[in-house]
Amino acid sequence: MSADPLLAVDAVDSGYGETQVLRDLSLSVEAGEIVSLVGRNGAGKTTTLRTIMGILTPTDGAIIYDGEDISTLEPTETATRGLAFVPEDRRIFPELTVRENLEIAAHGGAPEADSISVTEALETFENLNARASNPGSSLSGGEQQMLAIGRALVGGADLVLLDEPTEGLAPYIVQDVMEIVEGLNDRGITVLLVEQNVHVCLELADRNYVIDQGEIVYEGTSAQLEADEEILDRYLGVTA
Ligand SMILES: Nc1ncnc2c1ncn2[C@@H]1O[C@H](COP(=O)(O)OP(=O)(O)OP(=O)(O)O)[C@@H](O)[C@H]1O
Ligand SMILES: [Mg+2]
Repeated sequence: MSADPLLAVDAVDSGYGETQVLRDLSLSVEAGEIVSLVGRNGAGKTTTLRTIMGILTPTDGAIIYDGEDISTLEPTETATRGLAFVPEDRRIFPELTVRENLEIAAHGGAPEADSISVTEALETFENLNARASNPGSSLSGGEQQMLAIGRALVGGADLVLLDEPTEGLAPYIVQDVMEIVEGLNDRGITVLLVEQNVHVCLELADRNYVIDQGEIVYEGTSAQLEADEEILDRYLGVTA
């Protein structure tokens, strides 16, 4: 592991107004890794991603990206630096076509980074290619997830923050989405993956952080976490 991670969340407190959610939260992601943040409903996973992206500002601590303090930057600014957030609700534009959804994303992200073209993105995702002229609203849940990830790709993201990409999807679509996440990573894109589904994390992630009540309670490789029955049972509701 190198000395300087791509992303370092350092002792961050964050929340909503008077409500503190994250407490002294630290995690790091090395360039090229897939790292998971896994925890139960309401543990603070989405709050963590919102704080990294700049939708929320930490009340204490710092967020360092590529050696620079991005703690107080707005989401538009963090996007320009190469971060992309794929939210739980996927937030595509339902009234625009699939192609148009990708075209606008190409203008929002990092300026001249190693983004891929809209055509290349469509070729990457066969299902999307077949529906390029259809409205976003016509896509299934899995296809919407593909489109949301495709948008991060054409935006030239270096670090993708994925919020529960497999939530609510049928098992065979979960497999497709996992392959897409691996495909992103094969392109050199670093991934911070938020999940309630620990099985997805164990399959995809190099390292995992377990979050509970706004605090990191465990860090380990997938092999370590898979073998840690106490952690799995206590924080993730998985019994061996
Ligand atoms: N806009 C908000 N205002 C106030 N509190 C909020 C807001 N959004 C979330 N919270 C609270 O912050 C805590 C953490 O929520 P968060 O959405 O980060 O959890 P999560 O781990 O993403 O959960 P889930 O798996 O259900 O998506 C919860 O107690 C939640 O009620
Ligand atoms: Mg959430």
